Amino acid sequence: MNYTLITGASKGIGKAIAIEAANRGMNLLLVARSEQLLVDLAKELSAKNVSVKILAADLFDADASKKIFEFVKEHSLNVNMLVNNAGMGFYGNFDEGDLQNQLNVMKLNMDACVRLTYDFLKNSDATQRRYILNTVSTGAYQPVPKMSIYAATKTFMLFFSRGIREELKKKNVYVTALCPGGTETEFFVPAKMEKVIKKNAAFMMLPDRVAKVGLNAVMKNKSVAIPGGINMLGAIASKLLPHDLVVPVSGSIFET
Ligand SMILES: NC(=O)c1ccc[n+]([C@@H]2O[C@H](COP(=O)([O-])OP(=O)(O)OC[C@H]3O[C@@H](n4cnc5c(N)ncnc54)[C@H](OP(=O)(O)O)[C@@H]3O)[C@@H](O)[C@H]2O)c1
Repeated sequence: MNYTLITGASKGIGKAIAIEAANRGMNLLLVARSEQLLVDLAKELSAKNVSVKILAADLFDADASKKIFEFVKEHSLNVNMLVNNAGMGFYGNFDEGDLQNQLNVMKLNMDACVRLTYDFLKNSDATQRRYILNTVSTGAYQPVPKMSIYAATKTFMLFFSRGIREELKKKNVYVTALCPGGTETEFFVPAKMEKVIKKNAAFMMLPDRVAKVGLNAVMKNKSVAIPGGINMLGAIASKLLPHDLVVPVSGSIFET
Protein backbone atom coordinates (compact mmCIF):
# COMPACT_ATOMS: atom_id res chain seq x y z
CA MET A 1 0.00 0.00 0.00
CA ASN A 2 1.28 3.47 -0.87
CA TYR A 3 1.97 5.89 1.99
CA THR A 4 2.73 9.61 2.16
CA LEU A 5 5.31 10.55 4.78
CA ILE A 6 4.66 14.02 6.21
CA THR A 7 7.07 15.70 8.64
CA GLY A 8 5.80 18.38 10.99
CA ALA A 9 2.35 16.80 10.76
CA SER A 10 1.30 17.59 14.34
CA LYS A 11 0.41 21.24 13.71
CA GLY A 12 -0.09 24.01 11.18
CA ILE A 13 0.56 23.46 7.48
CA GLY A 14 1.74 19.85 7.95
CA LYS A 15 -1.43 18.92 9.81
CA ALA A 16 -3.50 20.64 7.09
CA ILE A 17 -1.62 18.66 4.40
CA ALA A 18 -2.33 15.45 6.35
CA ILE A 19 -6.07 16.25 6.55
CA GLU A 20 -6.25 17.17 2.86
CA ALA A 21 -4.28 14.05 1.86
CA ALA A 22 -6.60 11.83 3.95
CA ASN A 23 -9.61 13.51 2.27
CA ARG A 24 -8.06 12.40 -1.03
CA GLY A 25 -7.79 8.79 0.20
CA MET A 26 -4.04 8.80 0.77
CA ASN A 27 -2.49 6.59 3.49
CA LEU A 28 -0.21 8.46 5.83
CA LEU A 29 2.91 8.21 7.96
CA LEU A 30 2.89 11.25 10.25
CA VAL A 31 6.10 12.45 11.90
CA ALA A 32 6.72 15.15 14.55
CA ARG A 33 7.94 15.34 18.15
CA SER A 34 4.52 15.77 19.84
CA GLU A 35 3.37 12.15 20.05
CA GLN A 36 -0.02 12.87 21.65
CA LEU A 37 -0.93 15.36 18.91
CA LEU A 38 -0.05 12.69 16.32
CA VAL A 39 -2.12 10.06 18.17
CA ASP A 40 -5.15 12.41 18.21
CA LEU A 41 -4.75 13.32 14.54
CA ALA A 42 -4.31 9.68 13.50
CA LYS A 43 -7.54 8.79 15.32
CA GLU A 44 -9.40 11.61 13.54
CA LEU A 45 -8.02 10.71 10.09
CA SER A 46 -8.48 6.94 10.40
CA ALA A 47 -12.23 7.63 10.40
CA LYS A 48 -11.79 8.69 6.75
CA ASN A 49 -11.01 5.09 5.77
CA VAL A 50 -7.29 5.57 5.27
CA SER A 51 -4.41 3.86 7.05
CA VAL A 52 -2.52 6.26 9.34
CA LYS A 53 0.76 5.41 11.07
CA ILE A 54 2.59 7.75 13.40
CA LEU A 55 6.19 8.06 14.51
CA ALA A 56 7.46 10.53 17.11
CA ALA A 57 10.89 11.73 16.04
CA ASP A 58 13.08 14.77 16.64
CA LEU A 59 14.53 15.89 13.31
CA PHE A 60 17.34 17.78 15.05
CA ASP A 61 18.75 14.29 15.55
CA ALA A 62 21.03 13.42 12.60
CA ASP A 63 19.88 9.76 12.83
CA ALA A 64 16.17 10.61 12.67
CA SER A 65 15.79 9.96 8.95
CA LYS A 66 17.52 6.58 9.26
CA LYS A 67 15.17 5.64 12.13
CA ILE A 68 12.13 6.77 10.12
CA PHE A 69 13.08 4.57 7.17
CA GLU A 70 13.84 1.64 9.51
CA PHE A 71 10.25 2.03 10.76
CA VAL A 72 9.05 2.15 7.13
CA LYS A 73 10.86 -1.14 6.41
CA GLU A 74 9.70 -2.81 9.63
CA HIS A 75 6.07 -2.02 8.83
CA SER A 76 6.46 -2.80 5.08
CA LEU A 77 5.13 0.61 4.06
CA ASN A 78 5.56 1.61 0.43
CA VAL A 79 6.29 5.33 0.84
CA ASN A 80 5.76 6.93 -2.56
CA MET A 81 5.46 10.55 -1.42
CA LEU A 82 7.64 12.58 0.94
CA VAL A 83 6.44 15.91 2.33
CA ASN A 84 9.38 17.77 3.87
CA ASN A 85 7.35 20.22 5.91
CA ALA A 86 8.77 20.46 9.46
CA GLY A 87 10.52 23.78 9.88
CA MET A 88 11.15 26.59 12.30
CA GLY A 89 11.98 30.27 12.25
CA PHE A 90 14.26 32.60 14.13
CA TYR A 91 13.45 36.28 14.45
CA GLY A 92 15.97 38.98 15.37
CA ASN A 93 19.30 40.41 14.36
CA PHE A 94 21.83 37.66 13.57
CA ASP A 95 24.59 38.98 15.88
CA GLU A 96 22.24 39.53 18.82
CA GLY A 97 20.49 36.16 18.72
CA ASP A 98 21.55 32.84 20.21
CA LEU A 99 23.88 31.08 17.76
CA GLN A 100 22.71 27.53 18.61
CA ASN A 101 19.06 28.46 17.93
CA GLN A 102 20.06 29.78 14.54
CA LEU A 103 22.14 26.68 13.77
CA ASN A 104 19.10 24.58 14.75
CA VAL A 105 17.03 26.41 12.12
CA MET A 106 19.62 25.34 9.54
CA LYS A 107 19.61 21.77 10.86
CA LEU A 108 15.83 21.37 10.66
CA ASN A 109 15.04 23.43 7.56
CA MET A 110 17.92 22.08 5.43
CA ASP A 111 19.93 19.11 6.82
CA ALA A 112 16.90 17.09 7.92
CA CYS A 113 15.17 17.64 4.55
CA VAL A 114 18.27 16.64 2.60
CA ARG A 115 18.73 13.45 4.67
CA LEU A 116 15.04 12.51 4.34
CA THR A 117 15.05 13.17 0.60
CA TYR A 118 18.15 11.00 0.12
CA ASP A 119 16.79 8.15 2.25
CA PHE A 120 13.39 8.39 0.55
CA LEU A 121 14.95 8.07 -2.90
CA LYS A 122 17.05 5.09 -1.77
CA ASN A 123 14.20 3.33 0.06
CA SER A 124 11.23 3.77 -2.27
CA ASP A 125 10.02 1.84 -5.30
CA ALA A 126 11.78 3.33 -8.32
CA THR A 127 9.48 1.48 -10.73
CA GLN A 128 6.58 3.64 -9.50
CA ARG A 129 5.97 7.39 -9.82
CA ARG A 130 7.25 9.12 -6.69
CA TYR A 131 6.52 12.59 -5.29
CA ILE A 132 8.46 15.08 -3.15
CA LEU A 133 6.70 18.16 -1.79
CA ASN A 134 8.94 20.60 0.06
CA THR A 135 7.34 23.31 2.18
CA VAL A 136 9.57 26.26 1.38
CA SER A 137 8.44 29.92 1.75
CA THR A 138 8.14 33.18 -0.15
CA GLY A 139 11.10 34.09 2.09
CA ALA A 140 13.16 32.06 -0.41
CA TYR A 141 12.86 34.78 -3.04
CA GLN A 142 14.87 37.50 -1.31
CA PRO A 143 17.02 38.08 1.76
CA VAL A 144 14.89 38.99 4.80
CA PRO A 145 16.56 41.16 7.44
CA LYS A 146 15.74 39.95 10.99
CA MET A 147 15.08 36.50 9.48
CA SER A 148 18.36 36.24 7.60
CA ILE A 149 19.12 32.61 8.49
CA TYR A 150 15.54 31.45 7.98
CA ALA A 151 15.19 33.07 4.55
CA ALA A 152 18.58 31.66 3.48
CA THR A 153 17.51 28.13 4.48
CA LYS A 154 14.40 28.52 2.34
CA THR A 155 16.42 29.78 -0.65
CA PHE A 156 18.58 26.66 -0.24
CA MET A 157 15.45 24.47 -0.27
CA LEU A 158 14.02 26.24 -3.33
CA PHE A 159 17.24 25.75 -5.30
CA PHE A 160 17.67 22.19 -3.99
CA SER A 161 14.11 21.35 -5.07
CA ARG A 162 14.55 22.82 -8.52
CA GLY A 163 17.95 21.15 -9.00
CA ILE A 164 16.93 17.62 -8.03
CA ARG A 165 13.65 18.03 -9.91
CA GLU A 166 15.62 18.32 -13.15
CA GLU A 167 17.97 15.45 -12.16
CA LEU A 168 15.04 13.17 -11.29
CA LYS A 169 12.82 14.02 -14.24
CA LYS A 170 13.73 10.88 -16.16
CA LYS A 171 13.20 8.73 -13.05
CA ASN A 172 9.51 9.69 -12.82
CA VAL A 173 9.94 11.68 -9.58
CA TYR A 174 7.80 14.81 -9.28
CA VAL A 175 9.42 17.50 -7.11
CA THR A 176 7.51 20.62 -6.03
CA ALA A 177 8.49 23.56 -3.84
CA LEU A 178 5.45 24.94 -2.00
CA CYS A 179 6.15 28.59 -1.14
CA PRO A 180 3.54 29.98 1.24
CA GLY A 181 3.57 33.53 2.55
CA GLY A 182 2.32 34.31 6.06
CA THR A 183 0.03 31.50 7.19
CA GLU A 184 -1.98 31.27 10.42
CA THR A 185 -0.09 28.63 12.41
CA GLU A 186 1.94 28.37 15.63
CA PHE A 187 5.13 29.02 13.65
CA PHE A 188 5.42 32.57 15.02
CA VAL A 189 5.20 31.61 18.71
CA PRO A 190 8.66 30.03 19.27
CA ALA A 191 10.13 32.63 16.90
CA LYS A 192 8.59 35.35 19.14
CA MET A 193 7.03 37.14 16.17
CA GLU A 194 3.62 38.03 17.60
CA LYS A 195 4.06 41.77 16.91
CA VAL A 196 5.09 41.15 13.29
CA ILE A 197 2.02 38.98 12.79
CA LYS A 198 -0.33 41.57 14.27
CA LYS A 199 1.08 44.13 11.84
CA ASN A 200 0.63 41.81 8.82
CA ALA A 201 -2.61 40.11 9.93
CA ALA A 202 -4.51 41.20 6.80
CA PHE A 203 -2.17 39.17 4.55
CA MET A 204 -2.26 35.85 6.43
CA MET A 205 -3.66 32.74 4.74
CA LEU A 206 -5.29 29.70 6.30
CA PRO A 207 -3.23 26.46 6.35
CA ASP A 208 -5.96 24.36 4.68
CA ARG A 209 -5.83 26.58 1.58
CA VAL A 210 -2.02 26.29 1.48
CA ALA A 211 -2.29 22.50 1.82
CA LYS A 212 -4.72 22.22 -1.11
CA VAL A 213 -2.50 24.35 -3.35
CA GLY A 214 0.55 22.26 -2.41
CA LEU A 215 -1.04 18.86 -3.03
CA ASN A 216 -2.65 20.02 -6.30
CA ALA A 217 0.73 21.32 -7.46
CA VAL A 218 2.74 18.18 -6.72
CA MET A 219 0.10 15.97 -8.38
CA LYS A 220 0.31 18.18 -11.49
CA ASN A 221 4.12 18.11 -11.36
CA LYS A 222 4.51 21.88 -10.95
CA SER A 223 8.01 23.02 -10.02
CA VAL A 224 6.76 25.73 -7.63
CA ALA A 225 3.45 26.65 -6.03
CA ILE A 226 2.91 30.04 -4.43
CA PRO A 227 -0.49 30.22 -2.72
CA GLY A 228 -2.25 33.62 -2.92
CA GLY A 229 -2.11 36.40 -5.51
CA ILE A 230 -0.28 38.90 -3.29
CA ASN A 231 2.39 36.34 -2.41
CA MET A 232 2.80 35.53 -6.10
CA LEU A 233 3.21 39.23 -6.98
CA GLY A 234 5.75 39.70 -4.19
CA ALA A 235 7.82 36.75 -5.44
CA ILE A 236 7.74 38.02 -9.03
CA ALA A 237 8.80 41.52 -7.91
CA SER A 238 11.65 40.04 -5.87
CA LYS A 239 12.85 38.13 -8.93
CA LEU A 240 12.67 41.09 -11.29
CA LEU A 241 13.96 43.95 -9.14
CA PRO A 242 17.54 44.33 -7.86
CA HIS A 243 18.03 43.04 -4.32
CA ASP A 244 19.44 46.45 -3.30
CA LEU A 245 15.89 47.76 -3.78
CA VAL A 246 13.99 44.74 -2.51
CA VAL A 247 15.85 43.99 0.74
CA PRO A 248 14.96 47.25 2.55
CA VAL A 249 11.30 46.59 1.68
CA SER A 250 11.38 42.98 2.94
CA GLY A 251 13.11 44.31 6.07
CA SER A 252 10.35 46.87 6.67
CA ILE A 253 7.69 44.13 6.59
CA PHE A 254 9.43 42.37 9.49
CA GLU A 255 10.22 45.55 11.46
CA THR A 256 8.06 46.24 14.54
N1 LIG B 1 3.38 29.84 8.97
C1 LIG B 1 3.92 30.55 8.00
O1 LIG B 1 3.64 31.76 7.85
C2 LIG B 1 4.85 29.90 7.01
C3 LIG B 1 5.14 30.59 5.83
C4 LIG B 1 5.99 30.02 4.90
C5 LIG B 1 6.55 28.78 5.14
N2 LIG B 1 6.27 28.12 6.30
C6 LIG B 1 6.89 26.81 6.51
O2 LIG B 1 5.88 25.85 6.72
C7 LIG B 1 6.40 24.74 7.44
C8 LIG B 1 5.45 24.39 8.56
O3 LIG B 1 5.38 25.47 9.46
P1 LIG B 1 4.05 25.88 10.21
O4 LIG B 1 3.75 27.28 9.86
O5 LIG B 1 3.01 24.85 10.03
O6 LIG B 1 4.60 25.90 11.71
P2 LIG B 1 4.13 25.13 13.04
O7 LIG B 1 2.68 25.27 13.23
O8 LIG B 1 5.06 25.64 14.09
O9 LIG B 1 4.47 23.61 12.72
C9 LIG B 1 5.79 23.16 12.64
C10 LIG B 1 5.80 21.65 12.59
O10 LIG B 1 7.15 21.20 12.56
C11 LIG B 1 7.34 20.26 13.61
N3 LIG B 1 8.70 20.34 14.15
C12 LIG B 1 9.33 21.43 14.64
N4 LIG B 1 10.54 21.11 15.10
C13 LIG B 1 10.69 19.76 14.88
C14 LIG B 1 11.73 18.84 15.14
N5 LIG B 1 12.87 19.20 15.74
N6 LIG B 1 11.53 17.54 14.80
C15 LIG B 1 10.38 17.14 14.21
N7 LIG B 1 9.37 17.98 13.94
C16 LIG B 1 9.52 19.28 14.27
C17 LIG B 1 6.31 20.64 14.67
O11 LIG B 1 5.93 19.53 15.45
P3 LIG B 1 6.44 19.23 16.95
O12 LIG B 1 6.58 20.54 17.64
O13 LIG B 1 5.37 18.34 17.46
O14 LIG B 1 7.73 18.52 16.75
C18 LIG B 1 5.13 21.04 13.81
O15 LIG B 1 4.39 19.91 13.43
C19 LIG B 1 7.79 25.17 7.90
O16 LIG B 1 8.77 24.60 7.05
C20 LIG B 1 7.78 26.69 7.72
O17 LIG B 1 9.05 27.21 7.49
C21 LIG B 1 5.44 28.65 7.25
